[in-house]
Amino acid sequence: MKVETLTCALGAEISGISLAEAGANDDLAGAIEDLLLKHKVLFFRDQDMNDAQHAAVARRFGELEDHPLTTSVNGEPGIIRIWKSPESPPERYENSWHNDATWRECPPMGAVLRCIECPPVGGDTMWANMELAFERLPDRVKEDIIDLRARHSMESTFMAAKPIQDQLAMKERFPDPEHPVVRTHPVTKAKALFVNAFTTHFTNFLTASRVRYGQDYTDGSGELLRYLISQAQIPEYQLRWRWTPGAVAIWDNRCTQHYAVMDYPPCVRRMNRATIMGDRPF
Ligand code: SIN
Repeated sequence: MKVETLTCALGAEISGISLAEAGANDDLAGAIEDLLLKHKVLFFRDQDMNDAQHAAVARRFGELEDHPLTTSVNGEPGIIRIWKSPESPPERYENSWHNDATWRECPPMGAVLRCIECPPVGGDTMWANMELAFERLPDRVKEDIIDLRARHSMESTFMAAKPIQDQLAMKERFPDPEHPVVRTHPVTKAKALFVNAFTTHFTNFLTASRVRYGQDYTDGSGELLRYLISQAQIPEYQLRWRWTPGAVAIWDNRCTQHYAVMDYPPCVRRMNRATIMGDRPF
């Protein structure tokens, strides 16, 4: 196995292994898990895998979950299709910086994304290291946010385009959760900034020490949230991956965010994603 670090921030490309084999090989799967903790996102090219093998690799990390709005692959629950073409519905929401599904009480631990078909150019995916983003914040900001909590909601992204009755029904199924703004990784114990496109507002910003009088008492909180969400946009924390058919990415959703670059319409891009269930953030 060869491991090539891709940027100073995060990411490594692994060659010389078959992921299909890793799904059934404890030593190989263990080595990949260790590398994921170290590099946060791993890439593999030219993997000849079917959906069942794709799901088997992802299950090495935990149970899989579907997405309430995205089509799953027939016969392989846990693998969703992120397929875009001129014929597909116009929804293209992956081009915002996000951790997957933080609108869940327990957002995914990670995901395994496999490229079936990609445009000749464009359609890259970017990742950002949110532990680095936290580490590089000014100390006074770190102190200010360490105990803050924030609400996350589907409504702030893809559900906003749906009819109100669908929004209400979805909220019944997935009540908007509250998560810590600074999350501790359950394995490494490292701290990561944990606000993204799904985050709507802080829930405990107004304490005795922050009470202000007058009509603009929430301004400070909105500006702080926007500033924190914008940290994923800093190039020094990022990596950009160019897809080829058969390439696979595995990421740790607890400490990274990603952004699928939407520069390729009207070309076709077909990706299958296995989403791995995670823990309640603390
Ligand atoms: C996602 O947001 O999980 C999809 C990423 C991609 O399609 O590149």
